[in-house]
Amino acid sequence: MNEHKLRIDELTVLLNQYNYQYYILDKPQVSDYEFDMLLKELASLEKANPEYMHVDSPTQRVGGTITKLFPTVKHQYPMLSLGNTYNQGELVDFHNRLMEFANNEIEYVCELKYDGVAISLIYENGILVRAVTRGDGVQGDVVTNNVKTIYSIPMRLSGDFPEKFEIRGEIFMPHRSFERLNSERIENNEEPFANPRNAASGSLKLQDSALVSKRKLDCFLYYVLGENLPFKTHYEAVSKAAEWGFKVPKETKVCKGMDEVWKFIDFWDHERHNLPFDIDGVVIKANSFDLQKAAGFTAKNPRWAISYKYKAERVATKLLSVVYQVGRTGIITPVANLEPVSLSGSIVRRASLHNADIMESLDIHHDDVVFVEKGGEIIPKIIAVDLSHRQANAQKYSFIDKCPECGSKLLRVEGESAYFCLNESACPPQIKGKLEHFIGRKAMNIDSLGEGKVEMLFDHNLVHNVADFYDLSYDKLIGLEKIIPATDEKMERTISFREKTVENILNAIENSKSVPFERLLFALGIKNVGETIAQKIAHHFGNIQNIMNATYESLIMIDDVGDQIAKSVIDYFSDLNNMIMIDRLKAAGLQMEVKIDTSEQKPNLLQGKAFVVSGVFSISRDVLKKMIVDYGGKNTSSISSKTDFVLAGDKMGPEKFKKAQTLKLNIISEEEFYKMINL
Ligand code: IVH
Repeated sequence: MNEHKLRIDELTVLLNQYNYQYYILDKPQVSDYEFDMLLKELASLEKANPEYMHVDSPTQRVGGTITKLFPTVKHQYPMLSLGNTYNQGELVDFHNRLMEFANNEIEYVCELKYDGVAISLIYENGILVRAVTRGDGVQGDVVTNNVKTIYSIPMRLSGDFPEKFEIRGEIFMPHRSFERLNSERIENNEEPFANPRNAASGSLKLQDSALVSKRKLDCFLYYVLGENLPFKTHYEAVSKAAEWGFKVPKETKVCKGMDEVWKFIDFWDHERHNLPFDIDGVVIKANSFDLQKAAGFTAKNPRWAISYKYKAERVATKLLSVVYQVGRTGIITPVANLEPVSLSGSIVRRASLHNADIMESLDIHHDDVVFVEKGGEIIPKIIAVDLSHRQANAQKYSFIDKCPECGSKLLRVEGESAYFCLNESACPPQIKGKLEHFIGRKAMNIDSLGEGKVEMLFDHNLVHNVADFYDLSYDKLIGLEKIIPATDEKMERTISFREKTVENILNAIENSKSVPFERLLFALGIKNVGETIAQKIAHHFGNIQNIMNATYESLIMIDDVGDQIAKSVIDYFSDLNNMIMIDRLKAAGLQMEVKIDTSEQKPNLLQGKAFVVSGVFSISRDVLKKMIVDYGGKNTSSISSKTDFVLAGDKMGPEKFKKAQTLKLNIISEEEFYKMINL
């Protein structure tokens, strides 16, 4: 037998086993390095022998597929939600209603109520065939490729699993992943997610599964469904699911009678703060499947299960003032300063009021006493005003109409709740925000200018836009000093530019001249152009000149570039100030084109040929697209008379296929493509 096939088989089994031990049993067997080496070996064998790749290949965990539109499918069993209870009395009512269907004492299973997004997984012959979101409960979106990047979800089962069944659970983002993601977003000047639930649901709908993989989601499975399943109880079904390879909740407990249920609820009310993920309550389910069947469902909820929701902690405090912050892109955020108060273990001094609409709906007045709550959010929220404390003549807060920093008139974009200051080139926080973004780690990485130094250069009138960094000199910097006042978090400190500091700064600026063009494009801080999009635009156009000349139509042809991004790019390069600045950066010697790694350069067999890749292939579409670029071709996303080849896989959309035929384009298969590049 072919030795490559044998090694692929062997590595697939071995790496899946390592993943299971690491992500489900929490018992790593090999070092990360050893794992990565084996995974790399497998990936390169699969690349050379795509026909031997398995459906459960661990290489899929790192993603690589792009999904533009998530198809919608109907759930075989509707995905209902649970009724909620908030106190012991309501829970007893639930129990009494269920007793009407029971012959003797009811055995319950208590589980935690994970705060994430519900997912339905379909397995056939032990293989994960489909993952579908809850959607409206009747139909949901197919997100299989994204779900495959979640290491704790098995792609192939082991043991005596039913031939066909569905299993449901909750995809969530553990605190560690959430904190890492948000700090990255803040560093990238992107809006952080308000809570792990939003982050999890946003991640599941990302088009690029490689990005989903980086989000480090996790999943607990808690509900097995199917025809003629050989189990008598919920607990038995879930325990079996663990044997097949699923990650099922460890905190589950069988409880006899309401007293035990209440103890479980009480225990987790305190203990939940020590979990590495968010929960928002407890789910109580009748254990017996016979009882579940007898009780059945109402239109919305099962009668055999209910959730008990923990109350979000809430305190009252005095509103001291409302201030308005101006972000890098000019967005205005109202923030409430509060009399410091302790809430869920931390001192709260500020709360975001988000935008004008939210401020209006809270109807806050000067000197109000407000209720502050910490739900799933990291930033506390003002929930309501305690009207009993309001003075008769209290004045209402109304949203400002001029920028608090530069005095420009604020503008509200139609259909949006945010106000913006449009004075991009002269409003200090916007300028400083852009400068800070430019020097960031993922941008030009001029770290010796961090921690308040940029602000100091701005205050001394030395930098106004990013090109000014390259005009700095020893004489301009030496001896500068600034006192940074104390804040709640940090003590007062002084920054002073002595010889060593100045040398470090000038060196870092010099080194930034060799930062690759992709990162420079991101560093420019074009609205809506994050790290990945900048990379895609840079690779598509190759150099700054082509990007400056790009049309709206050519921009939206790029993967993941939509209307908003295309418009931002066009706007940015139509601004004369930006053009002058780029000219200065060019003159300073910064990288203005993508450098191709010549060490691995492939022959230019596809020179200038435009490809559209569509459908499902034995390897990921992204890998195919990279091969096209490596061999000198171009990827475009829509079929037109300019397309040279349509690389068609399984399940290519019939409309696309028809269009390609009408235009008499070359439609080629995956095999034919490999022949073109002599593989
Ligand atoms: S059982 C028929 N168990 O809560 C009901 N749901 O409001 C099946 N959830 O959509 C759901 N943890 O997203 C169940 N241990 C758990 C849960 C749980 C979280 C979510 C799930 C569901 C929602 C119901």
